[in-house]
Amino acid sequence: MAKTINNQQSTILITGGAGFIGSHVVRHFAQKYPHHKIVNLDALTYAGNLENLRDVEPSPNYFFEKGDIRDAVFLKNLFEKHQPDSVIHLAAESHVDRSIANPLAFVETNVLGTVTLLNAARDSWARGNSSRQPDFEGKRFYHVSTDEVYGSLGEEGYFTEETRYDPRSPYSASKAASDHFVRAYFHTYGLPVVLSNCSNNYGPNHFPEKLIPLVINNIRQGKSLPVYGDGQYTRDWLWVKDHAAAIDTIFHQGRDGETYNIGGNNEWKNIDLVRKLCDIMDELLGQPVGTSQSLITFVKDRPGHDRRYAIDASKLKNELGWEPTVKSEEGFRETAKWYLENEAWLAHVLSGEYQRYYEQQYR
Ligand code: NAD
Ligand code: TYD
Repeated sequence: MAKTINNQQSTILITGGAGFIGSHVVRHFAQKYPHHKIVNLDALTYAGNLENLRDVEPSPNYFFEKGDIRDAVFLKNLFEKHQPDSVIHLAAESHVDRSIANPLAFVETNVLGTVTLLNAARDSWARGNSSRQPDFEGKRFYHVSTDEVYGSLGEEGYFTEETRYDPRSPYSASKAASDHFVRAYFHTYGLPVVLSNCSNNYGPNHFPEKLIPLVINNIRQGKSLPVYGDGQYTRDWLWVKDHAAAIDTIFHQGRDGETYNIGGNNEWKNIDLVRKLCDIMDELLGQPVGTSQSLITFVKDRPGHDRRYAIDASKLKNELGWEPTVKSEEGFRETAKWYLENEAWLAHVLSGEYQRYYEQQYR
């Protein structure tokens, strides 16, 4: 039976809302649900940037709180202050290469941070209940996760919700652990949780360490385009605003304890994707076709590099009616244009300047 979250006024706590996907989720919810209070909790790490939300900041239903999901005391106070009815949890360390360099940071934020947040939600929501068995009616903890928990595919096949977990990078291992904790809180404490595992996202506000924004930015600067290994690695790319819409659908209609896979039905081998981005950029910059492709450089492979990810999102389509809407050609072009039109944003996130902006605005 589908659970429908109450459409009356409620408070939704979104973690990681200053990051790439989180900022699109915050905007989507703040604009679509003006009767809900949206609280964005973010530690503003290198990946979090309040400039992503400049247009949302004036909305009367939007609130920002700087804080760390690993900090239990901060979370207790936050839950007391805002009394959220639900949580959409996106805060995480998200880059595979960084996880290879520093796995512990991923355990601390993605595993310990998630469990600390689960405890805060459970404690706060159970407090109002007098019975031994808390009644979590009207509450929901939505955990946003990745398809990388399923491991690596060969040329054929797709990840379904039944695919066995087989994480192979420190990032995916930390996300897999957090998924297991979220499910454990459902089974052990009856906390009403729902999860989604999504493929690679792309679009505006993507930090330029990930493949697509890195390639666009390097072309802008005439720098080489590093392609790991043989470039034959495959990812399924999803337009980030389609992901935000999927999260909305699952948040409102998903069943407690269930997991939904989200994908773009849009597989690209890395080298083909990089070449496509080169051609789009040549066109947008008015340069001869082939100019940007000359920057492609094959470099040393990522250790433990997963060969292919591909999502079967038929459960989400059949049960809840969600499908991706943006075609990749159109989405890649939009993304490239956005980066060309937002050079100040790029300069800012790469300089760490926005952290100083925060200090000026909010201290
Ligand atoms: P991101 O790195 O752009 O943003 C992460 C945000 O979390 C940042 O704003 C950062 O400041 C914040 N944060 C980090 N540590 C924190 C902490 N300890 N306390 C509070 N805030 C903290 O990440 P993203 O790409 O937007 O990914 C968001 C979520 O979606 C992650 O959980 C990620 O695993 C998941 N996901 C991402 C993708 C993708 O393609 N990017 C795909 C599937 C799932
Ligand atoms: P990335 O954007 O880091 O996402 P993920 O590792 O989570 O899938 O990388 C996407 C693909 O692009 C992945 O196969 C690694 C590859 N890649 C490169 O070839 N060169 C690069 O500079 C980067 C950052 C990634």
